Amino acid sequence: MDADHIVEKFDMKLGELADGMIITAYAGFGERYQRLDDKTSEFIRHNFKRCSLVIIRNDSEITVKASEVRVGDTILKVYNFPSNLLKLTQVNSRLIKALKYRDIRRFDIKQQAYLTDDSKRELREIIKLVKQSTKRLSVKEERRLESIRETNELIQKTNESVNVRREIISSVEYAMDNARRGNNNIDDIRKYVDGITQTASADAMSAIANIRASDQTYAHCVDVGVIFQTVYNYILQETGRKSVFDSLNQAILSAFLHDFGKAKVPKDLLDSTSRFERSSKEMQILMAHPEHGAKLLADMGLPDSVINMAHYHHVKQDDNMLSSYPKDCHYEDVFFETRLLAIVDVYQALVGRRRYKRSWSPPATMRYLDALSGVEYDYEVWLLFLKVMGLYPKGSVVELSNHSIGFVVSIPRDESDPERPIVAVVRNEYGEDLDHHELVDLQEALDISIAKDLDSLEVFGSNALDVFMGIEIS
Ligand SMILES: [Fe+2]
Ligand SMILES: [Fe+2]
Repeated sequence: MDADHIVEKFDMKLGELADGMIITAYAGFGERYQRLDDKTSEFIRHNFKRCSLVIIRNDSEITVKASEVRVGDTILKVYNFPSNLLKLTQVNSRLIKALKYRDIRRFDIKQQAYLTDDSKRELREIIKLVKQSTKRLSVKEERRLESIRETNELIQKTNESVNVRREIISSVEYAMDNARRGNNNIDDIRKYVDGITQTASADAMSAIANIRASDQTYAHCVDVGVIFQTVYNYILQETGRKSVFDSLNQAILSAFLHDFGKAKVPKDLLDSTSRFERSSKEMQILMAHPEHGAKLLADMGLPDSVINMAHYHHVKQDDNMLSSYPKDCHYEDVFFETRLLAIVDVYQALVGRRRYKRSWSPPATMRYLDALSGVEYDYEVWLLFLKVMGLYPKGSVVELSNHSIGFVVSIPRDESDPERPIVAVVRNEYGEDLDHHELVDLQEALDISIAKDLDSLEVFGSNALDVFMGIEIS
């Protein structure tokens, strides 16, 4: 048998010492080592040269070198034997006899140990398990660091995107006002579209859309556009689906323009917060916007794909439904892209309207749409939308089971549990707003779960977006 490893034992009695052991410390001394006299202190200084000692001096426990030992000190421990003092450390009968004579009573030792073949196999298994768990730990750590990086990037992009979003909203309003006066020009909007697709900030703008109430037409157009872009981009990448558009710029542009026909709706009616009966004159005017839009965009020479979005985004899968319009349109004429837009359109309309109907948090909206899918919307398209947005879309405010409150910053992908996103906690269980925000990955923290989803406006009031943009994880 080979020597396999070294075993250490502590506080052994003199009688337990055996040949082959190496003493690493003398740990128990007889009475003569308490309050050293002249003779014993000289013995220590001489025999334990260059060793370290733990002693009591003036009622304090201190560590000294042997050469510093004085009369009156009490010796507790001698260790750090230099290699030339083998005669004091290698256990044999002569040393045991000498130790007995010197009244040194307790020892720390090390000893080579031998293993049987079975034990070796067990040991190898243990080492393998330890290595695996260390590896798992480092994968976990990598995942944690990646989540922190992604969250900080999302927050940074959100900060950068806030003003851009405001400018695009103005440009959509300006273009629609111009169209109202018979001047069709969307050059200004095109300019912003390039910026969004180049900096890929649609994702960050979608988070803003999820936090901020924006029921006004122009903000609605922009929020629908950025959410559409985020989801559509992902679908193209994941499924390899061929786009009906010439470019990504054209895709987001057509989403921005889906309600362009509302330029033909009188502004006071557009800005009105009243609810109109479906049979009312006002509702008939409002419900004509898809046809107006299709015509306006065709007049501008835009392609079929863009026109299809404006024309058919209110056509339901069951096109006989009362809520499906224009009336003479059929679902088979509705492009995949428009089917997706229809879902984004209703999603944003409900989330943006939280001011009036408080229950429409992003997760509540997802649950509502889920119930309608397959009836009002294409089920397959809904599943793709759900996959990208998650049950708790980015920006959703949730209360965790430990009563802390935070924003969803990353949604579970692939086979992960959709109920367990990554949450940036901003308020602790005592209702105190935190200075240092903590990231809770619910895929990892299995003892915590989402207790309920909350309306960001109800929790943070008009500061919701500022709180979100102030998230900082380190
Ligand atoms: Fe519409
Ligand atoms: Fe719309």
